[in-house]
Amino acid sequence: MVKKNACVFISGYGSNLKSLISNSRNQNFPINIKLVITNNKHAKGIIFAKQNSIPILIINTKKNSFENDILREIRKYKISLICLAGYMKIISKKFINNFGKKIINIHPSLLPKFKGLDTFKRVLNNNEKKTGCTVHFVNDKLDGGKTILQKSFFIKKSDNIKTLKYKTQKLEHRAFSEAIINIYRYD
Ligand code: GRF
Repeated sequence: MVKKNACVFISGYGSNLKSLISNSRNQNFPINIKLVITNNKHAKGIIFAKQNSIPILIINTKKNSFENDILREIRKYKISLICLAGYMKIISKKFINNFGKKIINIHPSLLPKFKGLDTFKRVLNNNEKKTGCTVHFVNDKLDGGKTILQKSFFIKKSDNIKTLKYKTQKLEHRAFSEAIINIYRYD
């Protein structure tokens, strides 16, 4: 199998990045992570990238041309899949069109419910019975593209923001990789 080159965008802890890096070591996993991009020079995920000798690009989103800087780097590494893993910036329509290949995102709710931030708090306040995570293609609408897969669990009375986050993230680590396998299943 010829693996595709992927780039992971992060802004924070990078637990999803870590699980993608670990799964990509399997020769049957369809991608290799060739580049990590972050808008936050303090993102913990940078450490995982460094430990695995993956090049890191730290971008300055205050610069007007920052998306062009990303595109230039992405072309250099022949990236055909972008994985947004806790990247806290909206990607412009222009960037999506210029890249022209697949971009996927992971979100900690059962979309279309609870788009945006503060998901766990809103899930609890809404007395939801179930929650989970969604991996979806990215379009120019916030958390808006076509769903690739979702994983869910039942919420217990004793759950709070911390436990929901823990349970959701555990599912996310499986969901992200399964979604990538699904995308390339027939390639
Ligand atoms: C995840 O919960 C993801 O759903 C959301 O941001 C979080 C990133 O976590 N988009 P991590 O940085 O991968 O640990």
